[in-house]
Amino acid sequence: MTDAPVTREYRTGSDPRTLRDALGCFATGVTVVTCLDSAGVPIGLTANSFTSLSLDPPLLLVCVAKMAASAEPLSKARNFAVNVLQTEQQPASITFSTRVEDRFGCTAWSMGEHGVPVLLDSLSVFECARHAIHDGGDHFILVGEVKKATFEPGLDPLLYFRGSYRRLHFD
Ligand SMILES: Cc1cc2nc3c(=O)[nH]c(=O)nc-3n(C[C@H](O)[C@H](O)[C@H](O)COP(=O)(O)O)c2cc1C
Repeated sequence: MTDAPVTREYRTGSDPRTLRDALGCFATGVTVVTCLDSAGVPIGLTANSFTSLSLDPPLLLVCVAKMAASAEPLSKARNFAVNVLQTEQQPASITFSTRVEDRFGCTAWSMGEHGVPVLLDSLSVFECARHAIHDGGDHFILVGEVKKATFEPGLDPLLYFRGSYRRLHFD
């Protein structure tokens, strides 16, 4: 006996909703990108557009919406950090992606070696020097040269897929 054929229901379109939903099919981790503004105040926003770019030299990138309040300080900061979140840091992801008065007041952090705020208990942290900024439509692409990488091998990542937070699932 053969299995019944699977019916697939692909959705197609060039409208913004279809584009967003199609892009949301790409499962990612979640990061919080941090820096200090020109007055020395910690700044940070949640971002899942993080990508490793080059090993030699060690480069990574993150895409930041030009409309974001963090855009200006992040584009000017000499150094920034990418904090890759683990499962228990979903509250931090929410804090750094919503209108919270004092994001760093309700999140455990410390100052990193390279003068950037680092979120405690992260899965990994990349302290970077700004390498380049490229235009990208309504975002800019912030490229950093990694000065220090830190990771905890025993923690599981916080994931994001189709607009929801997820966890790794092994059968
Ligand atoms: C899972 C997730 C991923 C996000 N990824 C990005 C991103 O890559 N780039 C970006 O500019 N905003 C991203 N956002 C939206 C910002 O976190 C959100 O607009 C935030 O409020 C910006 O803060 P700000 O205006 O204080 O800078 C993401 C939000 C969530 C929940």
